[in-house]
Amino acid sequence: MSARYFPVPDRHKGKVYVITGGAQGIGRACAERFAAEGALVMIADIDPSGAEVAQAIGGAFQPTDMSSPEQVRALAAATVTRFGRIDIWHNNAFSAVFKPIHEQTLEEFDRITGVGIRGYWMGAKVAVEQMRAQGGKGVIVNTASVQSFVGEKGFSAYQATKGAVLALTRSLALDHAPDIRAVAIAPGLIATDAIKGIPEDVMAEVIAGIPAGRAADPREVAALAAFIASDEADYMSGTAVILDGAYLAIG
Ligand SMILES: NC(=O)c1ccc[n+]([C@@H]2O[C@H](COP(=O)([O-])OP(=O)(O)OC[C@H]3O[C@@H](n4cnc5c(N)ncnc54)[C@H](O)[C@@H]3O)[C@@H](O)[C@H]2O)c1
Repeated sequence: MSARYFPVPDRHKGKVYVITGGAQGIGRACAERFAAEGALVMIADIDPSGAEVAQAIGGAFQPTDMSSPEQVRALAAATVTRFGRIDIWHNNAFSAVFKPIHEQTLEEFDRITGVGIRGYWMGAKVAVEQMRAQGGKGVIVNTASVQSFVGEKGFSAYQATKGAVLALTRSLALDHAPDIRAVAIAPGLIATDAIKGIPEDVMAEVIAGIPAGRAADPREVAALAAFIASDEADYMSGTAVILDGAYLAIG
């Protein structure tokens, strides 16, 4: 059975939600979901098409390269200027290459970790600073991956970032409990542009290894993010929620 989607009206009414990598894929689905639940949404992306997504949902767009600390700081400032505060910060943008480590360059490693480790850390830093300044409450959501838990060939630098995301999430949760929660989402295979380049035969093999028998729709990740960021999930922090069609259950 495929998923169906039930945005909860007003669940995030008036909450300010920042989503990085929000121009497409999981980030875009999250932007649309939070807007449908009443949030004021700030989309950050290197892709200028994020502006159209923002316009369609009544949100805002800030061109941002998450590997640039100055631009991440500018993103937080632009959000506060536009919406007055930050309630939910969602680190989601990523960079990756698919090849073994002896073919990867140091420049590629720096780019990948610049977005996936330093960018997440910097995003969390500016979010926590703002949340503390406005009274202390807030939620940080970090998109991780099943590759935070298991290895897959050809992704050494990317996998290093996804392992780091879990450690960062735990640390944030401990440092700022009970006011600021931090939760990671670990998706399995999600049907976005990120997996478009995978040849058909390889994809068939990948799908065969997923008990659910399919890739998930990015809206399924968005539904989880909206719950995680809500008050109903107030006891959830310092952990990762896996959404993988039982991929990891195989062991
Ligand atoms: N698609 C999957 O199967 C899958 C599986 C596990 C985890 N994830 C994770 O989900 C998240 C979103 O992936 P997706 O599948 O939606 O990918 P996607 O390629 O569809 O979207 C990624 C977005 O990030 C933006 N981006 C790239 N570099 C950026 C930068 N430096 N600064 C700001 N924005 C930047 C891109 O322009 C794009 O809009 C990533 O963290 C990824 O690791 C995806």
